[in-house]
Amino acid sequence: MDNQKRQLILAIESSADETSAAVIENGNRILSLSTATQIASHRRFGGIVPEVASRHHLEWINLVIDHALQEAKITNPKQQLSAVAATYGPGLVGSLLVGLMAGKTLALTYDLPFIGVNHLIGHLQAAIFNQEIKYPALGLLVSGGHTQMVWIKSPNQFQLIGQTLDDAAGEAFDKIGRVLNLDYPAGQKLAELSSQGTANISLPKVVTSNPYDFSFSGLKSAMINYLHTSEQNNQAIIVADCAASFQKAVVEEIIERVQLVLADQKFKNAQQFLLGGGVAANQLLREQLSDLLVKRSISFNPTPIKLTGDNAAMIGAAAQLKLNKNQFDNLDLNAEPRLNFVEISQSL
Ligand code: KG4
Ligand code: ZN
Repeated sequence: MDNQKRQLILAIESSADETSAAVIENGNRILSLSTATQIASHRRFGGIVPEVASRHHLEWINLVIDHALQEAKITNPKQQLSAVAATYGPGLVGSLLVGLMAGKTLALTYDLPFIGVNHLIGHLQAAIFNQEIKYPALGLLVSGGHTQMVWIKSPNQFQLIGQTLDDAAGEAFDKIGRVLNLDYPAGQKLAELSSQGTANISLPKVVTSNPYDFSFSGLKSAMINYLHTSEQNNQAIIVADCAASFQKAVVEEIIERVQLVLADQKFKNAQQFLLGGGVAANQLLREQLSDLLVKRSISFNPTPIKLTGDNAAMIGAAAQLKLNKNQFDNLDLNAEPRLNFVEISQSL
């Protein structure tokens, strides 16, 4: 990238229940970020209802885009912007299509290049708003839909090392939160409750055939069994203790996988460890990762807490990686609800 040139990207995110637009300068500076959240709408259903989500995106998309452009003082998009970017996967197809169509239409209208962004890369690239990313890097993405460990050899090379075989970490928090009568999404509330409780309920260790894969459904079943058994035996259930025990077990499950990866010679030249996704807001996880990485002398680069959830700033940051290589997409790019790290091309 020409360092002298100020490159501005208008980025759009609509893969799940946040409608978000941002203007990002040179991939690492947020000029504006406007996000409309639908959480309150979905809460009564205990999770995202896809049709409701797409309808909300339609209502909000133009408003968040206008707001983001105004706040960034973009009066002449064709002149001032270098590209328009939008998430094209993974996510809910109806939700993705709203942001993707808006992004492609604006690119066509203003005759700007269009960049389709992988939401997963966005979550990891969000660490750049904490500090510059050094390569090769290890990345841990923990969200409501994903739990993945990734080897990032260089800015555009993502290789999946391990992933969850069942629930994502955030999904497990949300499901246990529901059983404990916490509002959706329960991760943050469960974490807050945990600080008032004691992790005194023992939950099983998880074994996966690929040691770098994760699994949370066994922990979830064990927690549910504990609650049922306690109820049947008329034993008092201390919700804060349940939350603390479950949080500890999930964080341990993640930390153990990270320890194994760090011990692997293939990743010994990792310069940095990136953390992203909604669950990256979890303080216990951040603290334990930080302690572990200090011991291994690997620099820890976690996404700033405010940008761990879904947002368009991370999409702008990831789009810059493609803009740097003039990797643009055609306007027939379709939504890919099951998109993974397709950019991976090489072996380790
Ligand atoms: O990244 P995100 O906003 O959406 C997806 O792409 O999935 O992640 C949302 C997830 C939810 O499951 C939510 O419960 C969880 O992140 N979460 C947390 C915390 N804050 C949000 N989980 C644990 N501790 C938190 N502090
Ligand atoms: Zn996400």
